[in-house]
Amino acid sequence: MISVGVVGASGYTGLELIKMIINHPKFELKYLATTTGDSIIEQLHPSLEGVITHNVEKASIEGVIDSCELVFLALPHKASMGFAKGLIDAGIKVVDLSADYRLDLETYEKYYCRHEDARHLNSSVYGLIEYYREDLKKAKLVAGPGCYPTATLLGILPFIPYIDTTVPLFVDAKSGVSGAGKKLSTTTHFVTINDNIFAYNPLKHRHAPEITEKIEKIHGAKINVNFVPHLIPATRGELVSIYAVLKEDINPLEILKKHYANDKFIRIREKPVDIKSTAGTHFCDIYAQKNQNALFISSAIDNLLRGASSQALVAGNLMCGFDEGLGVPTISYMP
Ligand SMILES: NC(=O)c1ccc[n+]([C@@H]2O[C@H](COP(=O)([O-])OP(=O)(O)OC[C@H]3O[C@@H](n4cnc5c(N)ncnc54)[C@H](OP(=O)(O)O)[C@@H]3O)[C@@H](O)[C@H]2O)c1
Repeated sequence: MISVGVVGASGYTGLELIKMIINHPKFELKYLATTTGDSIIEQLHPSLEGVITHNVEKASIEGVIDSCELVFLALPHKASMGFAKGLIDAGIKVVDLSADYRLDLETYEKYYCRHEDARHLNSSVYGLIEYYREDLKKAKLVAGPGCYPTATLLGILPFIPYIDTTVPLFVDAKSGVSGAGKKLSTTTHFVTINDNIFAYNPLKHRHAPEITEKIEKIHGAKINVNFVPHLIPATRGELVSIYAVLKEDINPLEILKKHYANDKFIRIREKPVDIKSTAGTHFCDIYAQKNQNALFISSAIDNLLRGASSQALVAGNLMCGFDEGLGVPTISYMP
């Protein structure tokens, strides 16, 4: 068994990690921590009452080193790098869910803040499983991709060789409110979002440079990504609609089926996808359609799972030499 910890245990992605780890055949939950600690997990998450009891500590590097071989950092950006650097040096395997190790230094500092651990940034592996599987098996530090970049990249990457990359890419994305984490804000207030839908940070969201950077790293293609996220009145789920211009005649569904033939957590759908069929699972559902040279791609994920915690868990599986599907949820919350 591998001793595992979650720092950020009181948050949304922290809870999803805990739920998967307690059912995992090879991971043993040994350490839970928050900013203040001094609690038990069922007090922070009453849904876990009668399922598990576990102390929650004040997060410390020493606490992780004493208890864990593998740790998930379910923390806001900046807080994560404060922990990660000491842990990597101590030989702990780290999967970070924040943006801290996802981007090149220059891009990170432009869109987030000054980086305090540039030393480890170069050795991190981007945790988009289907594209970095072999690197993840050797990784000591994994950067969990952003939720929107996960849905967008899984949808668009198979088509990059067939689209006109001189034409801007348009990505119209919709997310449930849990994507913003547990803290309250006017935007996520019930009265603001109930019966409502609106764009936020159009063309200026920090996930656009992540999508651009990864397309370039994976395919060597520079493309102008115009990304517009929307908030929708749902708890979880993300639906991404991508619009591109084809440079050759292709059958979009055939391209997808061939590209993901060996990827059991990508489902190529014959009809447009929806968020509910992926809610509670690690699946990414993808559909594509064309009209002459116009290409439409539709991609759906659960932002808390494939967009964060289950993707992180799969990275942890690979880092530890396990099958990637161990402990990963596959049955959606339908109806
Ligand atoms: N939500 C999503 O759909 C999603 C998807 C992809 C990636 N992510 C990323 O995953 C990370 C966690 O997101 P989330 O939605 O779970 O956020 P969240 O619900 O706000 O939870 C954040 C957690 O971090 C803890 N925390 C904050 N600062 C800390 C510190 N200095 N030391 C120890 N614990 C600290 C908080 O503990 P306290 O209770 O003590 O404040 C809380 O448990 C973020 O970086 C986010 O961008 C989230």
